[in-house]
Amino acid sequence: MTKQSETILETRNVKLWYGDKEALHGIDLDFANKGITALIGPSGSGKTTYLRALNRMHDLEENVTVTGSFNLLGKDIYAPTTDTVDLRKRVGMVFQQPNPFPFSIYDNVAFGLRLAGVKDKKTLDQAVEESLKAASIWDEVKDELNKSALGLSGGQQQRVSIARVLATKPDVLLLDEPTSALDPVSSHNIEETLLSLRDQYAMIIVTHSLSQASRISDKTAFFLSGNLVEFGDTRKIFLEPEKKETADYISGRFG
Ligand SMILES: Nc1ncnc2c1ncn2[C@@H]1O[C@H](COP(=O)(O)OP(=O)(O)OP(=O)(O)O)[C@@H](O)[C@H]1O
Ligand SMILES: [Mg+2]
Repeated sequence: MTKQSETILETRNVKLWYGDKEALHGIDLDFANKGITALIGPSGSGKTTYLRALNRMHDLEENVTVTGSFNLLGKDIYAPTTDTVDLRKRVGMVFQQPNPFPFSIYDNVAFGLRLAGVKDKKTLDQAVEESLKAASIWDEVKDELNKSALGLSGGQQQRVSIARVLATKPDVLLLDEPTSALDPVSSHNIEETLLSLRDQYAMIIVTHSLSQASRISDKTAFFLSGNLVEFGDTRKIFLEPEKKETADYISGRFG
């Protein structure tokens, strides 16, 4: 058994340039193998940029330079030998807009496993059920697994997206504003889903909702202008921040 406090992902001196514009100025952040870390900060502070660096999403863009070290369970994420398809299974991503494929609910969740070569129907059935249960949507969709995922509500689609990512058993789950496109009830369901997963997964969530960050996260990192200003226990960041900029942001004075 791994201990709660064990570090799963360690980043050091992360810098990132879009062309010749430096967007991240040297971020040091560690993540425990379980629990939720919230990345907060004003628009343009570099939250998404940092998050996408964690599973090499910037590889897909031109003109982006990333430096620094990214260590996932002792392995260098940016090593030339790293298989990015495999990496993105281990460091899965859920986006702001629910993005199911135009397939059935079942095929959406089975997608990653099939890509990895799993063909056995029983194995797939079991993984689909487990993942939908873990994403707290099984009861709502169990009788219509063969219907198109596009027919679901936004909140349901987002939970199917989470199930799709969980199916490949990731080490880390990245979520970029996963509830900002959703109504309050759906947002609440997603928060409950994330809370139910917090003992099993390392999750890193970007959010503009300070109340969401304080409700669900264990740790909070405050970004400002491409720098990490402060990182610590969520309670501490919200109740007794050490830096003036953090206090100002938390109290709504800017951002
Ligand atoms: N593809 C890109 N090309 C050039 N500059 C970019 C690109 N994406 C982001 N930036 C710049 O990098 C900086 C950080 O942007 P980023 O999207 O990471 O901010 P953010 O904290 O996620 O903001 P938001 O809360 O609005 O989503 C900003 O100055 C932004 O303009
Ligand atoms: Mg963003």
